Amino acid sequence: MGLRAWAPGRVNLIGDHTDYMGGLVLPMAIGLGTEITGDRGGNWVMLGSDRFDGGAEIPIAGVPDPSAVEPPWARYVAAVVAEVRPSDGLVGMVHSTLPPGSGLASSAALEVAVATALGADRVNPVAAAQACQRAEERAVGVPCGIMDQLVSLAAVEGMVLRIDCDTLAIEHVPFPEDAEVVVVHSGQHRELTGSAYAQRRAECEAAERLIGRLRDATPADAERIDDPLLRRRARHVTTENERVDALASALAGGQLTYAGELLAASHASMRDDFEVSTPVLDELVSTVRGVPGVYGARVTGAGFGGCVVVLCRPKTRIHGPVVWRGRPAPGANLATT
Ligand code: GLA
Repeated sequence: MGLRAWAPGRVNLIGDHTDYMGGLVLPMAIGLGTEITGDRGGNWVMLGSDRFDGGAEIPIAGVPDPSAVEPPWARYVAAVVAEVRPSDGLVGMVHSTLPPGSGLASSAALEVAVATALGADRVNPVAAAQACQRAEERAVGVPCGIMDQLVSLAAVEGMVLRIDCDTLAIEHVPFPEDAEVVVVHSGQHRELTGSAYAQRRAECEAAERLIGRLRDATPADAERIDDPLLRRRARHVTTENERVDALASALAGGQLTYAGELLAASHASMRDDFEVSTPVLDELVSTVRGVPGVYGARVTGAGFGGCVVVLCRPKTRIHGPVVWRGRPAPGANLATT
Protein backbone atom coordinates (compact mmCIF):
# COMPACT_ATOMS: atom_id res chain seq x y z
CA MET A 1 0.00 0.00 0.00
CA GLY A 2 1.31 3.41 -0.94
CA LEU A 3 1.49 6.48 1.26
CA ARG A 4 1.68 10.22 1.01
CA ALA A 5 3.14 12.19 3.94
CA TRP A 6 2.96 15.98 4.02
CA ALA A 7 4.79 18.38 6.35
CA PRO A 8 4.42 22.16 6.03
CA GLY A 9 7.06 24.82 6.45
CA ARG A 10 6.37 27.65 8.85
CA VAL A 11 6.60 31.36 9.21
CA ASN A 12 7.20 32.75 12.67
CA LEU A 13 5.10 35.85 13.39
CA ILE A 14 7.10 36.75 16.50
CA GLY A 15 9.32 35.10 19.12
CA ASP A 16 12.63 34.42 17.37
CA HIS A 17 15.74 33.15 19.13
CA THR A 18 13.63 32.43 22.20
CA ASP A 19 12.76 28.74 21.71
CA TYR A 20 16.16 27.30 22.67
CA MET A 21 16.05 29.35 25.89
CA GLY A 22 12.67 27.88 26.88
CA GLY A 23 10.86 31.04 25.81
CA LEU A 24 7.68 31.80 23.87
CA VAL A 25 7.07 31.66 20.11
CA LEU A 26 4.11 32.43 17.83
CA PRO A 27 4.53 30.62 14.50
CA MET A 28 2.02 29.32 11.94
CA ALA A 29 2.24 26.69 9.22
CA ILE A 30 2.26 27.88 5.62
CA GLY A 31 0.91 26.22 2.49
CA LEU A 32 4.39 25.33 1.21
CA GLY A 33 6.03 22.17 2.43
CA THR A 34 7.54 18.78 1.76
CA GLU A 35 5.73 15.70 0.53
CA ILE A 36 6.92 12.12 0.45
CA THR A 37 5.18 9.59 -1.75
CA GLY A 38 6.18 5.96 -1.60
CA ASP A 39 5.66 2.46 -0.25
CA ARG A 40 6.61 0.99 3.11
CA GLY A 41 8.50 -2.27 3.33
CA GLY A 42 11.99 -3.75 3.14
CA ASN A 43 14.99 -2.99 5.30
CA TRP A 44 16.08 0.29 3.75
CA VAL A 45 14.80 3.84 3.53
CA MET A 46 15.51 4.78 -0.08
CA LEU A 47 14.38 8.22 -1.20
CA GLY A 48 14.98 10.30 -4.30
CA SER A 49 14.48 14.06 -4.43
CA ASP A 50 12.97 16.36 -7.05
CA ARG A 51 15.33 19.10 -5.86
CA PHE A 52 18.63 17.63 -4.79
CA ASP A 53 20.97 15.29 -6.61
CA GLY A 54 21.60 11.76 -5.44
CA GLY A 55 19.47 9.52 -3.28
CA ALA A 56 19.18 8.75 0.41
CA GLU A 57 19.93 5.07 1.02
CA ILE A 58 19.74 4.32 4.73
CA PRO A 59 19.56 0.85 6.33
CA ILE A 60 16.95 0.75 9.11
CA ALA A 61 19.25 -1.43 11.21
CA GLY A 62 22.68 -0.01 11.98
CA VAL A 63 22.12 3.55 10.68
CA PRO A 64 25.53 5.12 9.98
CA ASP A 65 26.61 8.39 11.65
CA PRO A 66 24.09 10.78 10.02
CA SER A 67 26.56 13.67 9.84
CA ALA A 68 28.84 11.64 7.53
CA VAL A 69 26.13 10.47 5.10
CA GLU A 70 26.25 11.55 1.43
CA PRO A 71 24.66 13.37 -0.32
CA PRO A 72 24.25 16.07 2.36
CA TRP A 73 20.43 16.24 2.19
CA ALA A 74 20.31 12.53 3.09
CA ARG A 75 21.83 13.40 6.51
CA TYR A 76 18.41 14.59 7.66
CA VAL A 77 16.83 11.35 6.44
CA ALA A 78 19.47 9.23 8.18
CA ALA A 79 19.11 11.16 11.43
CA VAL A 80 15.32 10.76 11.46
CA VAL A 81 15.64 7.03 10.74
CA ALA A 82 18.07 6.80 13.66
CA GLU A 83 15.60 8.59 15.94
CA VAL A 84 12.34 6.94 14.83
CA ARG A 85 13.82 3.40 14.49
CA PRO A 86 11.11 2.13 12.11
CA SER A 87 10.47 -1.60 11.84
CA ASP A 88 9.89 -1.32 8.05
CA GLY A 89 11.71 0.56 5.37
CA LEU A 90 10.37 3.00 2.78
CA VAL A 91 10.97 3.50 -0.94
CA GLY A 92 9.81 6.77 -2.44
CA MET A 93 10.33 10.34 -3.59
CA VAL A 94 10.63 13.66 -1.78
CA HIS A 95 8.95 16.67 -3.40
CA SER A 96 9.26 20.11 -1.85
CA THR A 97 7.71 23.48 -2.58
CA LEU A 98 9.78 25.21 0.14
CA PRO A 99 12.75 27.31 -0.92
CA PRO A 100 15.73 26.09 1.18
CA GLY A 101 17.80 28.60 3.14
CA SER A 102 14.89 31.05 3.39
CA GLY A 103 14.05 30.91 7.08
CA LEU A 104 10.88 28.89 6.41
CA ALA A 105 12.06 25.72 8.15
CA SER A 106 12.68 23.57 5.08
CA SER A 107 14.93 21.17 7.01
CA ALA A 108 12.30 20.72 9.74
CA ALA A 109 9.68 20.01 7.04
CA LEU A 110 11.94 17.31 5.56
CA GLU A 111 12.49 15.78 9.00
CA VAL A 112 8.79 15.84 9.85
CA ALA A 113 7.79 14.43 6.45
CA VAL A 114 10.24 11.52 6.87
CA ALA A 115 9.13 10.92 10.48
CA THR A 116 5.47 11.03 9.43
CA ALA A 117 6.06 8.64 6.52
CA LEU A 118 7.89 6.28 8.89
CA GLY A 119 4.93 6.26 11.26
CA ALA A 120 6.17 8.57 14.03
CA ASP A 121 3.55 9.04 16.72
CA ARG A 122 1.45 11.97 15.54
CA VAL A 123 -1.00 11.55 18.41
CA ASN A 124 1.84 12.89 20.51
CA PRO A 125 3.32 15.66 18.34
CA VAL A 126 5.67 16.79 21.11
CA ALA A 127 7.54 13.48 21.20
CA ALA A 128 7.74 13.37 17.40
CA ALA A 129 8.94 17.00 17.32
CA GLN A 130 11.61 16.25 19.93
CA ALA A 131 12.82 13.31 17.83
CA CYS A 132 13.04 15.56 14.76
CA GLN A 133 14.78 18.31 16.75
CA ARG A 134 17.40 15.79 17.90
CA ALA A 135 17.69 14.62 14.29
CA GLU A 136 18.55 18.16 13.13
CA GLU A 137 21.39 18.34 15.63
CA ARG A 138 22.65 14.85 14.69
CA ALA A 139 22.47 15.61 10.98
CA VAL A 140 24.10 19.03 10.77
CA GLY A 141 25.15 19.94 14.31
CA VAL A 142 22.79 22.91 14.63
CA PRO A 143 21.61 23.26 18.26
CA CYS A 144 18.14 24.40 17.18
CA GLY A 145 15.06 24.86 19.34
CA ILE A 146 11.82 22.93 18.93
CA MET A 147 9.63 25.55 17.26
CA ASP A 148 9.99 24.51 13.62
CA GLN A 149 9.40 20.81 14.09
CA LEU A 150 6.55 21.29 16.57
CA VAL A 151 4.57 23.77 14.48
CA SER A 152 4.96 21.57 11.39
CA LEU A 153 3.46 18.64 13.34
CA ALA A 154 0.85 20.41 15.46
CA ALA A 155 -0.45 23.29 13.31
CA VAL A 156 -4.21 23.79 12.91
CA GLU A 157 -5.78 25.61 9.96
CA GLY A 158 -6.70 29.21 10.72
CA MET A 159 -4.71 29.23 13.98
CA VAL A 160 -1.40 30.66 15.09
CA LEU A 161 0.39 28.54 17.71
CA ARG A 162 1.57 30.07 20.96
CA ILE A 163 4.16 27.57 22.14
CA ASP A 164 5.74 27.70 25.56
CA CYS A 165 9.08 26.11 24.72
CA ASP A 166 9.72 25.26 28.37
CA THR A 167 6.54 23.33 29.18
CA LEU A 168 5.84 22.60 25.48
CA ALA A 169 2.21 23.59 26.02
CA ILE A 170 0.51 24.76 22.83
CA GLU A 171 -2.32 27.29 22.65
CA HIS A 172 -4.15 27.88 19.39
CA VAL A 173 -4.80 31.56 18.76
CA PRO A 174 -7.37 32.39 16.04
CA PHE A 175 -5.92 34.43 13.19
CA PRO A 176 -8.10 37.49 12.42
CA GLU A 177 -10.53 37.16 9.48
CA ASP A 178 -9.58 40.54 8.06
CA ALA A 179 -5.84 39.93 7.84
CA GLU A 180 -3.37 37.97 5.78
CA VAL A 181 0.29 37.01 6.03
CA VAL A 182 2.69 37.57 3.15
CA VAL A 183 6.18 36.08 3.06
CA VAL A 184 8.67 38.05 0.95
CA HIS A 185 12.16 36.81 0.09
CA SER A 186 15.10 39.12 0.66
CA GLY A 187 17.16 37.41 -2.02
CA GLN A 188 19.79 36.61 0.60
CA HIS A 189 20.31 32.89 1.02
CA ARG A 190 20.85 31.78 4.60
CA GLU A 191 22.70 28.69 5.79
CA LEU A 192 21.89 27.78 9.38
CA THR A 193 24.91 25.50 9.61
CA GLY A 194 28.07 27.50 10.19
CA SER A 195 26.12 30.67 10.85
CA ALA A 196 26.31 32.60 14.08
CA TYR A 197 23.28 30.68 15.37
CA ALA A 198 25.25 28.51 17.80
CA GLN A 199 27.22 31.57 18.93
CA ARG A 200 24.00 33.46 19.74
CA ARG A 201 22.78 30.53 21.74
CA ALA A 202 26.06 30.37 23.68
CA GLU A 203 25.81 34.11 24.41
CA CYS A 204 22.27 33.65 25.77
CA GLU A 205 23.53 30.83 27.99
CA ALA A 206 26.32 33.10 29.27
CA ALA A 207 23.71 35.78 30.08
CA GLU A 208 21.64 33.15 31.86
CA ARG A 209 24.55 32.31 34.15
CA LEU A 210 24.50 35.95 35.27
CA ILE A 211 20.78 36.60 35.82
CA GLY A 212 19.12 33.19 35.94
CA ARG A 213 16.80 31.60 33.37
CA LEU A 214 16.05 34.05 30.57
CA ARG A 215 12.63 32.51 30.33
CA ASP A 216 11.80 33.85 33.80
CA ALA A 217 13.90 37.03 33.61
CA THR A 218 12.44 40.47 32.88
CA PRO A 219 13.89 43.23 30.67
CA ALA A 220 14.86 45.00 33.93
CA ASP A 221 16.93 41.94 34.90
CA ALA A 222 18.68 42.11 31.53
CA GLU A 223 19.69 45.73 32.21
CA ARG A 224 21.66 44.55 35.24
CA ILE A 225 24.20 42.75 33.03
CA ASP A 226 27.46 44.74 32.80
CA ASP A 227 28.74 43.21 29.59
CA PRO A 228 27.08 45.26 26.82
CA LEU A 229 26.88 42.41 24.31
CA LEU A 230 25.36 39.92 26.75
CA ARG A 231 23.00 42.67 27.98
CA ARG A 232 21.72 43.20 24.44
CA ARG A 233 21.23 39.48 23.86
CA ALA A 234 19.30 39.10 27.13
CA ARG A 235 17.26 42.23 26.39
CA HIS A 236 16.19 40.73 23.06
CA VAL A 237 15.05 37.45 24.58
CA THR A 238 13.24 38.99 27.55
CA THR A 239 11.45 41.67 25.53
CA GLU A 240 10.65 39.22 22.71
CA ASN A 241 8.98 36.86 25.18
CA GLU A 242 6.75 39.75 26.28
CA ARG A 243 5.96 40.62 22.67
CA VAL A 244 4.78 37.07 21.98
CA ASP A 245 2.02 37.34 24.55
CA ALA A 246 1.21 40.89 23.45
CA LEU A 247 0.87 39.80 19.81
CA ALA A 248 -1.21 36.74 20.71
CA SER A 249 -3.66 39.03 22.55
CA ALA A 250 -3.61 41.63 19.77
CA LEU A 251 -4.45 39.00 17.12
CA ALA A 252 -7.17 37.43 19.25
CA GLY A 253 -8.66 40.89 19.86
CA GLY A 254 -8.32 42.04 16.23
CA GLN A 255 -6.02 44.94 17.20
CA LEU A 256 -4.07 44.88 13.97
CA THR A 257 -2.46 48.31 14.20
CA TYR A 258 -0.99 47.40 17.57
CA ALA A 259 0.05 44.03 16.13
CA GLY A 260 2.02 45.92 13.48
CA GLU A 261 3.78 48.00 16.14
CA LEU A 262 4.84 44.81 17.91
CA LEU A 263 6.30 43.45 14.67
CA ALA A 264 8.26 46.70 14.26
CA ALA A 265 9.60 46.46 17.81
CA SER A 266 10.60 42.84 17.25
CA HIS A 267 12.45 43.70 14.05
CA ALA A 268 14.35 46.48 15.82
CA SER A 269 15.28 44.06 18.61
CA MET A 270 16.49 41.42 16.12
CA ARG A 271 18.51 44.14 14.34
CA ASP A 272 20.00 46.06 17.27
CA ASP A 273 20.06 43.72 20.25
CA PHE A 274 20.36 40.27 18.72
CA GLU A 275 22.18 41.43 15.58
CA VAL A 276 20.76 38.83 13.22
CA SER A 277 19.26 41.14 10.61
CA THR A 278 21.11 42.39 7.53
CA PRO A 279 20.98 45.73 5.64
CA VAL A 280 19.05 43.99 2.84
CA LEU A 281 16.41 42.71 5.29
CA ASP A 282 16.19 46.11 7.02
CA GLU A 283 15.64 47.82 3.68
CA LEU A 284 12.96 45.32 2.63
CA VAL A 285 11.14 45.70 5.97
CA SER A 286 11.11 49.48 5.72
CA THR A 287 9.92 49.46 2.08
CA VAL A 288 7.12 46.99 2.76
CA ARG A 289 5.99 48.90 5.85
CA GLY A 290 5.21 51.93 3.70
CA VAL A 291 2.72 50.01 1.52
CA PRO A 292 -0.94 50.95 2.18
CA GLY A 293 -2.70 48.03 3.86
CA VAL A 294 0.43 46.75 5.63
CA TYR A 295 0.18 46.63 9.43
CA GLY A 296 3.75 45.55 10.05
CA ALA A 297 6.73 43.50 8.90
CA ARG A 298 9.84 41.90 10.36
CA VAL A 299 12.63 39.46 9.62
CA THR A 300 11.44 35.94 10.44
CA GLY A 301 13.28 32.82 11.63
CA ALA A 302 16.96 32.72 12.45
CA GLY A 303 17.84 35.82 10.41
CA PHE A 304 21.15 36.41 8.55
CA GLY A 305 19.11 36.50 5.31
CA GLY A 306 15.99 34.65 4.25
CA CYS A 307 12.48 36.07 4.44
CA VAL A 308 10.43 38.91 5.85
CA VAL A 309 6.95 38.26 7.25
CA VAL A 310 4.29 40.86 6.53
CA LEU A 311 0.94 41.28 8.30
CA CYS A 312 -1.53 43.09 6.08
CA ARG A 313 -5.11 43.44 4.88
CA PRO A 314 -6.13 40.59 2.55
CA LYS A 315 -5.09 41.11 -1.08
CA THR A 316 -2.66 43.94 -0.28
CA ARG A 317 -0.33 44.29 -3.26
CA ILE A 318 3.24 43.71 -2.20
CA HIS A 319 5.95 44.27 -4.80
CA GLY A 320 8.91 41.97 -4.70
CA PRO A 321 9.48 38.23 -4.56
CA VAL A 322 6.41 36.98 -2.68
CA VAL A 323 7.09 33.39 -1.68
CA TRP A 324 3.70 32.68 -0.13
CA ARG A 325 0.59 34.49 1.10
CA GLY A 326 -2.42 33.33 3.04
CA ARG A 327 -3.82 32.34 6.40
CA PRO A 328 -2.45 29.71 8.80
CA ALA A 329 -2.29 26.29 7.10
CA PRO A 330 -2.83 22.83 8.66
CA GLY A 331 0.02 20.69 10.02
CA ALA A 332 1.52 17.38 8.90
CA ASN A 333 -0.68 14.56 7.63
CA LEU A 334 -0.38 11.02 6.38
CA ALA A 335 -2.64 9.41 3.77
CA THR A 336 -2.65 5.96 2.26
CA THR A 337 -2.92 5.74 -1.52
C1 GLA B 1 15.69 28.37 13.45
C2 GLA B 1 15.66 27.26 14.48
C3 GLA B 1 14.50 27.46 15.46
C4 GLA B 1 14.53 28.87 16.06
C5 GLA B 1 14.68 29.92 14.94
C6 GLA B 1 14.84 31.31 15.50
O1 GLA B 1 14.56 28.33 12.64
O2 GLA B 1 15.50 26.00 13.86
O3 GLA B 1 14.55 26.49 16.47
O4 GLA B 1 15.55 29.00 17.01
O5 GLA B 1 15.76 29.65 14.10
O6 GLA B 1 13.71 31.69 16.21
